[in-house]
Amino acid sequence: MKDHVYCSLDLLKSFMVDVFIGMGCPPDEAEICADVLSAADRRGIDSHGVGRLKPIYYDRVMKLKVQNAVTRFEVERDIAATAVVNGHNGMGMVIAKKSMDLAIAKARQYGIGMVIAKNSTHYGIAAYYPMMACSQDMIGITGTNARPSIAPTWGVENMLGTNPLVFAVPTDEPYPFTNDYATSIAQRGKIELYAREGKKLPPGWVVDAEGNTKTDPHEVLSDLTVGKAALTPLGGIGEEMGGHKGYGYATVVELLSAGLQMGPFLKQLNGLEGGIPVPISLGHFFIAIDISHFADVDEFKKHAGDILRDLRESKRAQNAQRIYTHGEKEYFKSLERAQSGVPLPKIVCSQLGQIRDELGLKYRFEWEGNQ
Ligand SMILES: NC(=O)c1ccc[n+]([C@@H]2O[C@H](COP(=O)([O-])OP(=O)(O)OC[C@H]3O[C@@H](n4cnc5c(N)ncnc54)[C@H](O)[C@@H]3O)[C@@H](O)[C@H]2O)c1
Repeated sequence: MKDHVYCSLDLLKSFMVDVFIGMGCPPDEAEICADVLSAADRRGIDSHGVGRLKPIYYDRVMKLKVQNAVTRFEVERDIAATAVVNGHNGMGMVIAKKSMDLAIAKARQYGIGMVIAKNSTHYGIAAYYPMMACSQDMIGITGTNARPSIAPTWGVENMLGTNPLVFAVPTDEPYPFTNDYATSIAQRGKIELYAREGKKLPPGWVVDAEGNTKTDPHEVLSDLTVGKAALTPLGGIGEEMGGHKGYGYATVVELLSAGLQMGPFLKQLNGLEGGIPVPISLGHFFIAIDISHFADVDEFKKHAGDILRDLRESKRAQNAQRIYTHGEKEYFKSLERAQSGVPLPKIVCSQLGQIRDELGLKYRFEWEGNQ
């Protein structure tokens, strides 16, 4: 078998729907979970797509039993433009999608809506949810806390999650502006990807207990879990390159995700108690802003598009091919992957075969004939 095989997006998504149903998710919730993972595969975010089906979702529900396949979505506080919802450790993607639906409904009425989710679990690519707002001519914002990974500036202890802070803004272009990334230089999924591909990490992404950089992705993944290594915030080690700024944004995400719902935070999200896996109980926030309350929607979209076009058309650095704006690469990747399918490394192929066999699903993958 080659290093990578290509699988069509449609086959991968229908397989994931059946896996989530096999895990016990109701069909409509299985569809949401598979759609979020499939969006990552389509957009080229390989750290957060089908490669995470087994370790982050299947194993946590079926083996570790730290999250529930059936999601009980309970609105605990609902006051005008705001709400707090309890996900009861169900599927993070379902909790997040329903929370953003609620924020959008509130924005439609009040101009802005904000929903905080508590007792949630990993919700996948953050951009999925603010992009839902864009499809309704709204600006979307989200953030989530996560297992402790980032050390504060001048620290070496993993305290903050990779806490993405993500905005999506509709424009007159065929895709929204979307700054979809962690507040660390790299996030765990990217380190898992380097581990799967057998590549060393670039220096500066991770510090060990003495503050030296570490580059072995396998060691880093296990050291991160036991607090012997930490990710660096955006801006990197120390203050010289602005590490304190990434550290600040990661803290803002923690304050909004955990602070506003009195939820567990920082080290309390380690997912282990005395070495035994326990529910992680994440917090997320979702904001939708209805553009029509501020401006004519078409004029706004043109104006936003002009801002992005001006940036892309500005003077390039020597030897630079082009300037991008955020969300652009993922849009073009999704056009490419609609044709090429999704490249799957060997380890992911064997995980999919294992899940299929354990659940007794009737799938035969194309690559199994070529081994
Ligand atoms: N659920 C969680 O707990 C969690 C935590 C962290 C990250 N994530 C997700 O992981 C995924 C990857 O995050 P990441 O931190 O590795 O992202 P990344 O470093 O790959 O950055 C991707 C973002 O940068 C933009 N981009 C890339 N090159 C650009 C350029 N030259 N000019 C302008 N924009 C450019 C992309 O369009 C995209 O918005 C995201 O989908 C994020 O939401 C999830």
